[in-house]
Amino acid sequence: MSAGVNERTNEQLYLKQVPEGIAGPDDFEVRKAGVPVLHEGEVLVESHYFGLDAALRLIVRDSDEFLFRVRPGDLVRGTAAGKVIESNHPDYAVGEYVMASSGVQSYSVCTAAELEKCDVSQVPLYDWLGGFGVSGLTAYFAIFDECKPQPGQTVLINGAAGAVGNMAGQFCKLAGARVIGLTGSKEKCTWLVDELGFDVAIDYKDDDWYAQLEKAAPDRLDVIFDNVGGDILDESLKLIGMRGVVLLCGSTSQYVADEMTGPNNYIWLGTMRARMQGFVVFDYADQYAEARKRMAEWIADGRIKLPNYFHEGSVAAFPAAFQELYEGKNLGKMLLKLAAAEN
Ligand SMILES: NC(=O)c1ccc[n+]([C@@H]2O[C@H](COP(=O)([O-])OP(=O)(O)OC[C@H]3O[C@@H](n4cnc5c(N)ncnc54)[C@H](OP(=O)(O)O)[C@@H]3O)[C@@H](O)[C@H]2O)c1
Repeated sequence: MSAGVNERTNEQLYLKQVPEGIAGPDDFEVRKAGVPVLHEGEVLVESHYFGLDAALRLIVRDSDEFLFRVRPGDLVRGTAAGKVIESNHPDYAVGEYVMASSGVQSYSVCTAAELEKCDVSQVPLYDWLGGFGVSGLTAYFAIFDECKPQPGQTVLINGAAGAVGNMAGQFCKLAGARVIGLTGSKEKCTWLVDELGFDVAIDYKDDDWYAQLEKAAPDRLDVIFDNVGGDILDESLKLIGMRGVVLLCGSTSQYVADEMTGPNNYIWLGTMRARMQGFVVFDYADQYAEARKRMAEWIADGRIKLPNYFHEGSVAAFPAAFQELYEGKNLGKMLLKLAAAEN
């Protein structure tokens, strides 16, 4: 053991090359390293779960257009939920649960700025990465502060069975709206309707998906909640309703595309006096605690569910889980569960 390194082995995930198409295991490499001894003010976190975020594919593109960038040779960005196992910081005690935004690795030496405490009496630790974390908060603020669906209105959500989409649908139901989900399999359609209360779910891989949508929305769409962009958004725009809202939450289909393309059918926004609205959840950071308080009541009352899809393995399994996310395997939030996880 060298000076300044303790006896633990840290598995760390690095980007090996800029991916083409869906990113997979060949695009990443695992390196093993020691864990540095803590300095004053630092905390050592043992990772238990990682959340898999579609946006990682956007930040590993060979492009400086976006806010963050992970280049070949960089540690992959990611947020772990885990436990404090050593502390040199007065505000963090050994045994406390936290989220650590310090990259995909089995142990992280963190400063307070990289940590958020998780109250596991409210929800299990893993939910802090999913429905009770950024995914659920994104849906919450996008629906209640931007889209504001009214009772009886019709909302279309694409990417509906994913981490953000499923929560957005549940919030729309709480608001009294009628909800149509678009997703990529019959199994997911059945799940959306039977388990989460969507009114209609349509498999966008059906040749006649647009005809099914037209039939399901005879009075047009008051809100389009867009997670995927591409052709699905473009076709759906033809059904936007008078003074409707198209909420641009994400563009998953475009993150993997060599050349990103925008919608052709924007003319319908003009005709229908509708608007496209950008959205970034971080604008609402000072309201997260209040949103979580309301969400905790709805969870306790059984009014909302926080669905997760677990991929089990070590840090080395992260690329396979990420590939499965893009293949649409997940119902709800895609999570990587590490051996250190306690439940
Ligand atoms: N604006 C914000 O502040 C904010 C915050 C968080 C996330 N986001 C964005 O929200 C979107 C959803 O994120 P998420 O974490 O909830 O991901 P997710 O929906 O849980 O996972 C991605 C899903 O996208 C679908 N998909 C993959 N490739 C597709 C394609 N080419 N066309 C259509 N669908 C495709 C798959 O489901 P199917 O089986 O249905 O294909 C897959 O399960 C992402 O674009 C993300 O970047 C935005």
